[in-house]
Amino acid sequence: MSPKKGCDHGQCGSRTVLLDGRRHLTCLSLAVAHDGSEIVNAAGLGRLTGDA
Ligand code: FES
Repeated sequence: MSPKKGCDHGQCGSRTVLLDGRRHLTCLSLAVAHDGSEIVNAAGLGRLTGDA
Protein backbone atom coordinates (compact mmCIF):
# COMPACT_ATOMS: atom_id res chain seq x y z
CA MET A 1 0.00 0.00 0.00
CA SER A 2 1.40 3.37 -0.89
CA PRO A 3 1.54 5.99 1.88
CA LYS A 4 -0.53 9.10 1.32
CA LYS A 5 -1.64 12.03 3.41
CA GLY A 6 -5.39 11.87 3.86
CA CYS A 7 -8.27 13.30 5.80
CA ASP A 8 -9.20 10.17 7.85
CA HIS A 9 -12.87 11.16 7.49
CA GLY A 10 -13.87 9.48 4.23
CA GLN A 11 -13.97 12.72 2.27
CA CYS A 12 -10.80 12.98 0.17
CA GLY A 13 -10.51 9.49 -1.29
CA SER A 14 -6.71 9.46 -1.14
CA ARG A 15 -6.66 5.93 0.27
CA THR A 16 -9.09 4.44 -2.22
CA VAL A 17 -8.39 0.92 -3.51
CA LEU A 18 -10.24 -1.69 -5.51
CA LEU A 19 -11.49 -4.34 -3.09
CA ASP A 20 -12.71 -7.38 -4.99
CA GLY A 21 -13.19 -5.10 -7.99
CA ARG A 22 -15.18 -2.39 -6.21
CA ARG A 23 -14.09 1.06 -5.02
CA HIS A 24 -13.35 1.06 -1.29
CA LEU A 25 -12.01 3.60 1.22
CA THR A 26 -9.38 1.79 3.27
CA CYS A 27 -9.29 4.50 5.92
CA LEU A 28 -12.81 3.56 7.02
CA SER A 29 -12.36 -0.19 7.41
CA LEU A 30 -10.38 -2.79 9.28
CA ALA A 31 -8.04 -4.92 7.18
CA VAL A 32 -8.96 -8.06 9.13
CA ALA A 33 -12.56 -7.69 7.94
CA HIS A 34 -11.38 -8.28 4.36
CA ASP A 35 -9.07 -11.25 4.87
CA GLY A 36 -8.83 -13.17 1.60
CA SER A 37 -10.10 -10.30 -0.56
CA GLU A 38 -8.28 -9.07 -3.67
CA ILE A 39 -6.97 -5.54 -3.11
CA VAL A 40 -5.51 -3.33 -5.87
CA ASN A 41 -3.98 0.02 -4.90
CA ALA A 42 -2.98 2.93 -7.17
CA ALA A 43 0.32 1.29 -8.10
CA GLY A 44 -1.50 -1.91 -8.97
CA LEU A 45 -3.94 -0.02 -11.18
CA GLY A 46 -0.98 1.22 -13.22
CA ARG A 47 0.14 -2.34 -13.73
CA LEU A 48 -3.36 -3.43 -14.76
CA THR A 49 -3.60 -0.69 -17.39
CA GLY A 50 0.01 -0.99 -18.55
CA ASP A 51 0.87 2.56 -17.41
CA ALA A 52 3.41 1.51 -14.74
S1 FES B 1 -8.16 9.63 4.15
FE1 FES B 1 -9.58 10.88 3.15
S2 FES B 1 -11.09 9.54 2.43
FE2 FES B 1 -9.72 8.32 3.51
